Amino acid sequence: MSTALQRRLDVASTIVEEAGRKAMALRPEPGAAATAKLKGRQDWLTEADGAVEAFISDALAKAFPEDGFQGEETGRGRTGALRWVVDPIDGTSNYARGADRWCVSLGLIEERTPLLGVIFAPALHETFTARHGAGAFRNGLPIHASTERDLTRAIVEVGWSPRRPLARFHRLLQGVMAQGAAVRLGGSGALGLVDVAVGRSDAYVELHINLWDVAAALAILGEAGAWVSPFLEGHGPEAGNPILAAAPGVAGALAEAAELAGWGA
Ligand code: IPD
Repeated sequence: MSTALQRRLDVASTIVEEAGRKAMALRPEPGAAATAKLKGRQDWLTEADGAVEAFISDALAKAFPEDGFQGEETGRGRTGALRWVVDPIDGTSNYARGADRWCVSLGLIEERTPLLGVIFAPALHETFTARHGAGAFRNGLPIHASTERDLTRAIVEVGWSPRRPLARFHRLLQGVMAQGAAVRLGGSGALGLVDVAVGRSDAYVELHINLWDVAAALAILGEAGAWVSPFLEGHGPEAGNPILAAAPGVAGALAEAAELAGWGA
């Protein structure tokens, strides 16, 4: 299995690199947001989303016709024992405004186990990769979650989307800040999660996030030694779930704060 998985990781990395270059070439100029389309409230759709997803889907179908495929824009296109899950542009709200904090995210899962993750942020010149049991890497160098144990020194990203009531988001924010953590909101769930894997932040928490936003990051976080809530349990793969990913030393206290704020309700 490890040779077959390594081959998939190598091929996936090449595909994601090419996809990222295509997305970069299509990125709107700053100030173009007024003409960008919305799928729903604060849910952006750009020309690149469809084009990049189609490119990745076709390339994977050629390389691994036996594998399943699920994309943010086109849904569950093919089924197989292994499932590739792509978010063609994560951080679309940033991308649509010509900003840099966005990425192409491609994960591979088997049932409820994350096997591979590739995240490429072209404008930031960063690539994150991981294979189950073989470590996590940023631009080819090993990465690890932070060793922080004290929430009064911690940085925590609290992700937001309009999919959950604002009052619950406020409760979560209040719960995290009451523990003394400094908060961030960067607009890309995938990049917020790999920030935890590389130790640039100590946790990422969000009331609801979808599989395509986290599929790649789950493999990377696990290999980097971060603590991650059981996202793939229950209806997570189909309907999304809350997520908390944290440095092990602050995970317990944060899980408590998030629980008190009703994050998993
Ligand atoms: C969104 C971003 C955002 C997160 C949302 C996601 P998109 O994905 O990752 O940071 O808070 O939950 O839906 O729309 O940029 O692919």
